Order: sequence, then structure tokens, then C-alpha cells
Amino acid sequence: MVAVIDFGSQYTQLIARRVRECGVYSEIFSCFTDAHDIYNNVNPEALILSGGPGSVYKARAQSFKHFFNLDVPILGICYGMQLAAELLGGKVNYSKKREYGHTSIRVKTHPIFSGLPRRFNVWMSHGDVVVEVPSGGRVIASTETAPIAAFQLGNFYGLQFHPEVQHTQYGRTILNNFLTQICKAKKTWSMSRFVDDEIERIRKIVGGAKALCAISGGVDSTVVAALATKAIGKNCICIFVDNGLLRINEKEDVRKSLSPYMNLKIVDAQKKFLSQLRNVKNPERKRKIIGREFIKVFETEARKIRNVAFLVQGTLYPDVIESGKGVGPSAIIKSHHNVGGLPVRMRLKIIEPLRLLFKDEVRKIARVLRLPASSIERKPFPGPGLAVRIVGPVTEERLNMLRAADKIVLEEARKLKRYRNIWQIFAILLPLGSVGVMGDKRTYDWVCALRAVQSDDGMTADWVRLPQEFLAKVSQRITNEVKGINRVVYDITSKPPSTIEWE
Ligand code: XMP
Repeated sequence: MVAVIDFGSQYTQLIARRVRECGVYSEIFSCFTDAHDIYNNVNPEALILSGGPGSVYKARAQSFKHFFNLDVPILGICYGMQLAAELLGGKVNYSKKREYGHTSIRVKTHPIFSGLPRRFNVWMSHGDVVVEVPSGGRVIASTETAPIAAFQLGNFYGLQFHPEVQHTQYGRTILNNFLTQICKAKKTWSMSRFVDDEIERIRKIVGGAKALCAISGGVDSTVVAALATKAIGKNCICIFVDNGLLRINEKEDVRKSLSPYMNLKIVDAQKKFLSQLRNVKNPERKRKIIGREFIKVFETEARKIRNVAFLVQGTLYPDVIESGKGVGPSAIIKSHHNVGGLPVRMRLKIIEPLRLLFKDEVRKIARVLRLPASSIERKPFPGPGLAVRIVGPVTEERLNMLRAADKIVLEEARKLKRYRNIWQIFAILLPLGSVGVMGDKRTYDWVCALRAVQSDDGMTADWVRLPQEFLAKVSQRITNEVKGINRVVYDITSKPPSTIEWE
């Protein structure tokens, strides 16, 4: 196994997951864990030091020295490389010359770059740079702004760029080279092993008690419900909450497709959610309110069933990490549904079998479990639903407007050849009036934005270059068919710097 040491990077889990994709089991440890405890407890074949909000730790660097005392290969990524430079006698410039995004890199002949061309594109995201390698170190790659973009010193290998993100060309090969050529790690990890282990784990944790499972209709909660149902059978009671923030026909679709597979109960709670959200503009408050209300509904349901002690949720790693609840000290981006809103006094214990996984890993598990294709291929939909796609206060009227626009976007999108490869495509309603003209009359109506992104895991994303005819059709249909919208714009930002959802 490989121990990934989390210094607070947004990408830590991505590193762990890429390692798993190479067939090697990996686990994440906080940078505040003692290296010798890790060594004694899990005996890793290698360490990977993640990136992190770099110079935040400048003063602390010395306290991380113990990681370099272990006799295993170490891969340092971004901050992980700078840390090694700082601790092993090199020099880091904390000048904050920021470098984000694609950069062309030139690499030397080295086992970690085995099989790669001399020049390719990598993804950089850093302020600080290594300006001097420790004595005895060898520079093995450079870019225009970072002459030391990678170095090796003995058993340490440092990369200034992020091999774990999909935007780095050959990133996976680089990690695979590190694991196979340098660490000689054994490839024994697989999804079916994960499934067996999780079923066993849930069975042990729940014992003879009952568990509730939160169903959203998406692949995450369906997989979680299937795992829990396999573990404890009818004692897993699956609940779908209609929070009033769903898309058109969503409740009925869920009822039809999932009730044959599980013990499904549908709870109508629209009024509660909408009254709590009245006049709320702040995105974080919206998310917190929805998270809190959701848990309340569950508690109420739990009280109706005897002997319920657990809540099984389909929380994924991006939800956890962006809520600042990962292992190490990363920054909070958004309070994701069911994580940020959890009241401390909650009476149900939470089981989150997918907490360490990404969406596409979950889809692979769904295939292992032989779940219906409609569930596996369903696009992600945020827990707080349309509330985070209505910028500004959520009202019944605005919900209906957005539902109608969203329906059109989906109808047209399904006709696209590339629909399967689009991660998400949806409409957002803006709190912005704009002047228009319809049938010789002046209008003053709302603006609707369209967002379509391509992504592997929701952590980074690029906007989709949609065909112009598609954009024209959608714009025309929305302005013609949805009363109250007179302008459609297309969002052309990637993540980062934006997020996928607008709130
Ligand atoms: P962001 O907007 O953070 O979204 O770039 C990343 C992915 O997560 C989805 N998302 C959520 N999923 N609960 C969820 O289960 C949430 O609160 C939530 N917020 C965003 C989003 O649709 C995208 O796929």
C-alpha cells in the first residue's frame, strides 16, 4: 500500500484514487500524523506527499522532517516537492509568482518519465518555486517559469506539477512509473474487492439494527442503497425526500426505476424546505438550511421506525474535501449537502461507504453490482437541487421557470452524440433583469445561463465546446417557451477558477 500524506491539497484524494486505479491500495494520512506511526501501522511501500497551501507551512516545515526519515521511496507533489527542497538543503522562493493552468514541460531521461515524449503539457497550480535543489539532487524536468519542475535526490522524487489531475498529459503514466518502476509495488487492489469489503463492513457496523438510506435517484445513493441492502437486506430502509427543489418528473422517475430494487419510501417535504429558504440569498446559508432540514426529515422518519440506529449516505470525496472535512487542513470551498449541514447532536450514526471515492469510481462499482444502466449513467445532481442553480432567493415561481428551462436543455442535450461524455449540462436562473423585445413589445425579464462541463471527477472541469446549432436551438426554445426568460447566456469558465454549480 501507498500512504498519501495530506498537506491540504484540493487534489489529495485524487492522488489516492489514481494510485488505486493503478491497482495499488492507498490511504490518506494527515500531515500531522507521525511518520513512524504510519510505518508501524500500515507498513507502506511508498509515501506520496501532496500539494498544499504552500508557504502556509513555511514556518512549520521542520516539523515535517520525520517523513524523510522512512526508508521508502517518496514522491513529493507541488508543496511536497518544495518541502523536500526546503528540508534537504535546497532553496524555495516564496515570491508568489503564481502559475496556474497548462504549462509545457521538458523532461530528461528518467524512470519516472519512462515511455513519455520529451515535451508535453502539465497542470501547474502554485505560488512558490524551488530555485535550488539540495546538494546531490538532479533536476529532471523544467518549464519556462520553473527551471526546476522536477528533481530526484536519492529515494525522493519531486514534481512541481500535478500528475494526478486529468489535465496533465501522461499523469497516470508518471504515477504508474513511480509505483511500478521505482517502488516495485504489487497490483492487488480492485473494485470488486472494495464491494466485498464494504458489504462486510456495513454488516458488521449495523449488526441487528436498522439503517436508513438517503436516496436521491443518482448513482451515488443508488449504489450505497444497493451495498447496504446486500449487507442487511430489508433492514435497510431507503428514503427519498421530495424537497421541492427537484427537476420535472423526478419523483415519479425515481419511484418507477428504484422501487423494484429496494425498500423505498417517499417523503413529501416540499413546504418545509421552501418556507425555510424564503428570502435566503446567501449560497452558504442555503446549503446549510437544506442540509439541516434534510437531516430533520430523516430524524422524523427514523422515529417512526423502531430500532433505527444508522443513516447510510452517498457522500463522495469531492463533497467531503470541498466542505473542508478531508483528512488534512484544506480550505473550505462550499458546504456540501449532508456534510456541512449536519447538526452535532444528530441521533443517527452516519455510514458513508463512498466517502473516499469519486463519481466515476462509483459508476464502476455500480457496474460490479449490476445496477440498471439508467442509474449508472445519470448525470450528477447536487443535493441542494435547483436551489443552488437559482442565484438569489428561491421562490416557487423561479423554480418553475428553471424547471421549464432545464427540461428543454436536457431534451436537446440528449440528442447530442457527445451527451454521454458530458459530465453535466444544466440551466441556471440569474437574479438579473434584462431588456428584450418580443412581438414588437418591450420585455424586462430574467436571464438564464447554460452550463455544460466535461470532467472526470468533478474536481476539475472544462466547459464543453457545444455546437453553435445546439446553443441556438436551446436559446430559441427557452426564450420562446419559458415565460419570464428573455435572454440566454453560455458559461465559458473552467473549474478552477469557477466551480461547476454557481452556488
Ligand atoms: P462544484 O459546484 O463544487 O460541484 O464544482 C462539483 C460536483 O458536485 C456536485 N455538487 C454536489 N453534490 N451535494 C452533492 O451531492 C452538493 O451539495 C453538491 N454541490 C455540488 C456538482 O453538481 C458537481 O457535479
